[in-house]
Amino acid sequence: MSIEEISKRIKECKKCGLWKTRNNAVPGEGNKNAKIMIIGQAPGKQEDILGRPFVGKAGKFLTQALEKFGKKREEFFITSIIKCFPPYNRKPSKKEIENCLPYTIQQIKTIKPKMILILGEIACEALINKKFSEVRGKFIAKDGIKFFVTFHPSAAMRFKRIREKFIQDLDLFFKFYG
Ligand code: URA
Ligand code: SF4
Repeated sequence: MSIEEISKRIKECKKCGLWKTRNNAVPGEGNKNAKIMIIGQAPGKQEDILGRPFVGKAGKFLTQALEKFGKKREEFFITSIIKCFPPYNRKPSKKEIENCLPYTIQQIKTIKPKMILILGEIACEALINKKFSEVRGKFIAKDGIKFFVTFHPSAAMRFKRIREKFIQDLDLFFKFYG
């Protein structure tokens, strides 16, 4: 299935209750031939308004962090595990994650990235089913794909100690990946 077809299905999706409160679903965007996919948790308010991933405060922080390493966000395919904004920015439920995960899996199958950069606990548990604290800062191979796990940019943005580790993680990731 093409990326466009997946996006279309996401925009029409009513599989979980989040469709009722969304303004726009946020399927993800970027390079369809990306070697690296970046996967976060869920759209926030700005993302819901614009229908684009990582365009709010945390998104700007992420974009700037990538630029520190000479990377432009357009090089990647960027998305989140949950495609519709959870009201009040609450954590998505297990059921919502279960309902939405097949879209991300389909995106991965279509793009066939070499590497997936996982941002935060929710994406970590959903994609590799491992405890965040045990795998953060590490490369993990699963089902023929390499994953690297780091903090979510909204946490990195808020807390200095996390920010330092986040930048260290990205440094390792891009050194290894090139
Ligand atoms: N956080 C995410 O995980 N995804 C977005 O698109 C924005 C913020
Ligand atoms: Fe569908 Fe995912 Fe949106 Fe729920 S969050 S309505 S499963 S696209």
